[in-house]
Amino acid sequence: MIIETERLILRPFLEMDAADVYEYLKEPQVNCFACMKLNSLDEAREEMKKRLGETEHYFAVTLKDGGKVIGEIGAYPETGEPHGDDNAVPDTFSPCWMLNENYQGKGYAFEAAQAFFDYLFSQKGARRIYAYTEDYNLSSRRLCEKLGMRREGMFLEFISFVKNPDGTPRYENTLQYAILKKEWDRQQLGTYI
Ligand SMILES: CC(C)(COP(=O)(O)OP(=O)(O)OC[C@H]1O[C@@H](n2cnc3c(N)ncnc32)[C@H](O)[C@@H]1OP(=O)(O)O)[C@@H](O)C(=O)NCCC(=O)NCCS
Repeated sequence: MIIETERLILRPFLEMDAADVYEYLKEPQVNCFACMKLNSLDEAREEMKKRLGETEHYFAVTLKDGGKVIGEIGAYPETGEPHGDDNAVPDTFSPCWMLNENYQGKGYAFEAAQAFFDYLFSQKGARRIYAYTEDYNLSSRRLCEKLGMRREGMFLEFISFVKNPDGTPRYENTLQYAILKKEWDRQQLGTYI
């Protein structure tokens, strides 16, 4: 699957993307991606091999002009209902988004996320998209809000990704944002009026 926007192409990862991905994953900017850290270009090459079969849910964000991989965006289908049985429909998605620091603040994340949400709602059966973001992650919060996601709540000391210097878990306060397909459709209609 390939998703095209004005300035970007979202496409599956390729082996040749290792160097570009290493550039932003050698030092993940936020704690929630600490486990994605790549320690060498070789590790990046191995990571690209693992990503090769994924063609529908996880994409490299590339510049149309030159083809550089400047980040990634993806989300896998989940059954949203907490008590859903085996027949529960996987109609809920929670995106992961991340850009190379050198390409932030240029509207690329919004452009990619808007097209990705459109794809999930129109082609992948999404009914609800939700995002978790740490309270101090202002750029991610701003992105959720620009996409028209509602702030649904704040979970205090919800999760720990890293440890404090004394070895105890460092818990993060997490905000949840979400948007339903009907809200997205209404919002898109509004943009054409
Ligand atoms: C979260 C993240 C993807 C957001 O990226 P971003 O570049 O800040 O987001 P945007 O693409 O919306 O760009 C923001 C700014 O670009 C500028 N911009 C918008 N459109 C533009 C355009 N067409 N041309 C130039 N600049 C533009 C604006 O100043 C905009 O800010 P504003 O709308 O608040 O005024 C990025 O900060 C990141 O990768 N963070 C690290 C990973 C992370 O935290 N992921 C989320 C974990 S929960």
